[in-house]
This record gives sequence, structure tokens and C-alpha cells, in this order.
Amino acid sequence: MEPAEIRRGVYALRAIDWDRRLFDGLIPLPDGTSYNSYLIKGSQKTMLIDTADPTKRDVLLNQLNSLGMSIDYVVANHAEQDHSGAIPQVLEKYPRAKVVATPKCKSMLIDLLVIPEDKFITVEDKETISLGDRTLEFIHAPWVHWPETMLTYLKEDRVLFPCDLFGSHLATSDLYVAHEGQVYEAAKRYYAEIMMPFRTHIQKHLERLKEYKIDIIAPSHGPLYDKPEFILKAYHSWVLDAPKNIVVLPYVSMHGSTRKMVEYFVGALLERGITVKQFDLTATDIGKLAMSLVDAATLVVGTPTVLVGPHPNVAYAAFLANALRPKLKFISVIGSYGWGGKAVEQLAGMIPNLKVEVLEPVICKGLPREADFKALDKLADTIAARHKGNGFV
Ligand code: FEO
Repeated sequence: MEPAEIRRGVYALRAIDWDRRLFDGLIPLPDGTSYNSYLIKGSQKTMLIDTADPTKRDVLLNQLNSLGMSIDYVVANHAEQDHSGAIPQVLEKYPRAKVVATPKCKSMLIDLLVIPEDKFITVEDKETISLGDRTLEFIHAPWVHWPETMLTYLKEDRVLFPCDLFGSHLATSDLYVAHEGQVYEAAKRYYAEIMMPFRTHIQKHLERLKEYKIDIIAPSHGPLYDKPEFILKAYHSWVLDAPKNIVVLPYVSMHGSTRKMVEYFVGALLERGITVKQFDLTATDIGKLAMSLVDAATLVVGTPTVLVGPHPNVAYAAFLANALRPKLKFISVIGSYGWGGKAVEQLAGMIPNLKVEVLEPVICKGLPREADFKALDKLADTIAARHKGNGFV
């Protein structure tokens, strides 16, 4: 793919990873991803912003070759290797270039990539570097989603290069967002998996960005935004809006008892006007579950009892919900056991990060019967009342 000129002398260099299906050995990538770098030619100096994953370094180097320019600065907005991994090869090819980073990012890049200390220029918050007729401002923005992160802003052209922030794991030949629904889904999945645990930090960054006039947001994953309000509005809603009248219901059933409870309970919630997102944890894409947690007010997990505790897949979902720190307000457990167990106590101990009210669980012995269905109705009543009482309806 050839570099794309997004403004005079400003090029997007995209290494599209159509086939990647897993990130960090954890996160599903159903639509692949891309690693975007940007080259900015000033009247005196040239700057590269971010590089690429080591697996795509040749794609980046070939695009740099095709532009035939020297490079004076390589900005590392973020130390994670999917953006920094090709810095050593870029420095080899352009030995006069200096790496521009926050002090924290410098120290992490020395640890992760063994880049020599004298190759760095560190920048403070709001510091600028001039390329002659162009000026880059560096905005420290820690915890997007690592502690060292910053955003880079090209003042004259009003382009923001936020690296991971506002990105999407989406392999596409579209330079800019062409199908808003598709990008909204991919960006929401990305937010849920990567940014949601740092919601309070992201909120501060969104507030700071109001000072800047932005014509293009050029992230380092996925398509660029030539209508920035699309993604800014979406982030505003994901980060700041109150949770919605939604119950997320991940479950596992071994012999059908928990499934019967889930089926009955879903019907009871729907009768009360509550939206339900149900996930069979033996088959679901964990990213879909993460996305559903962005807006939900309540999480109810359905579990059988395995070796006196919750099913391991349910424990994994609870661990994930605890790590992602969604806006949830209420949580409960439904499920079945054969002869005894501590599934509820063990699950309750797995979610210390969640500031939630635990609603009375419904656990039955063997197949659910009349009293158990009544208890499920009561739990549905309680959830409906809590959602209404908190203005989530
Ligand atoms: Fe796309 Fe945090 O790296």
C-alpha cells in the first residue's frame, strides 16, 4: 500500500494486518487491525509519528523508502511494541534521527527495546518542536492505556495523532471512516477492551482536548476520522453517560438446570422492559461480552457448581469484568448445584474493583422448581425497581 497524503506533506503510512486474530495473546481481533504511522515534512525537518508492529516493520520501511525523505525525529506516543517495535530498524536506517518521548516512555523504551539513551529527546507536557513551517505540540496523556502515553498535535493543520486513543482494531483499505456503523462497533470493542479500565483518566483527556481545534483525528489503529465529532461523541457517551437499562447475562450450563433458569429469567426481565444481553461463555467472543459491559447497569452471571465453586469460564468472565471496571451498579448470581458449594461466595470475592450492590442471588438444588422461578421473578422485580429508581430507564 502506498502512503496516503492527508494534508500537503503529511502522509499516513498504514501497515494493515488483515489476518491477525489475537492481540496480547488475549483479545480477539475478528476484523484484524492496522498499525498506522504518520510522516510530516516541514520546511526544515521531517518527523515520523509512531512506527509499526515488528511483524510489519518491512511494510513501514518500504513505505518510507518510497517517500525518499530523511527523518530527523521519531515520535513515540506510546511504548507498546505494536507502535514502537520498528523504532530500532528506523533508527538503523536513519541514524541521525532522535526519538521524541515522555520521560517515562523513554525509560520504558530503553527497557523494552534496548534503545541507547543518547538517541532520545524527552518532551514535557505542552512542549513543542518546530519543523520549520510546522509545529508539533506534545500533550501528556498518561494511562491511555499505559502510564507513559502522550498525544501529538500538528498545530497548523489541526491534526491530532492520539496513537491508541480513539483507535479501532479494524483492517480496512478505507483511509477515513467510510461506514460509521462498522467503525462504531470496532471502536467500541477497542474502548471496552483497552480503555474502559482507565475511564477516569480518559475523561480528563477528553476535557483537555476541548482546548484544541481538530480537523482530523489520525489514530495508530484503524481508519482516520475526517469528522472527529463522530468518535469524540461516542467516547463522551461511553465514558460519561449513566449506565442504561441493560442486564448482561453471561452463563454456562452443564446439564441444563442453569440454562432453564437463564431462559426463565431472560423472559422475566424482558417482561419488565429491560434489555438483556445473554452470552453462552462456552462459545462467546469475549470481546462482545466486554462491549456489552460498556453501557450495562447490571451483570447477572449464571453458573453451575464445579468442584464446589463457579464454572471456570464464569470465573474468567467475573475476573474480566473486575479488570475492565465498567459502569455497572448491580450484580447477582443465578445457578444450580448438585450437593453443595461456594460458587456465590467465590464469585463475590473476585470483583473487588466493582463498586456494585450485590442483589440476592438465586441458587437452586438440581432442576429449578416453582419456588426458584418465583425467586427469579423477585430478582427481576428488584432489578427493574433499581434501574427505575436510579433513572436508568
Ligand atoms: Fe496499540 Fe497500546 O498499543
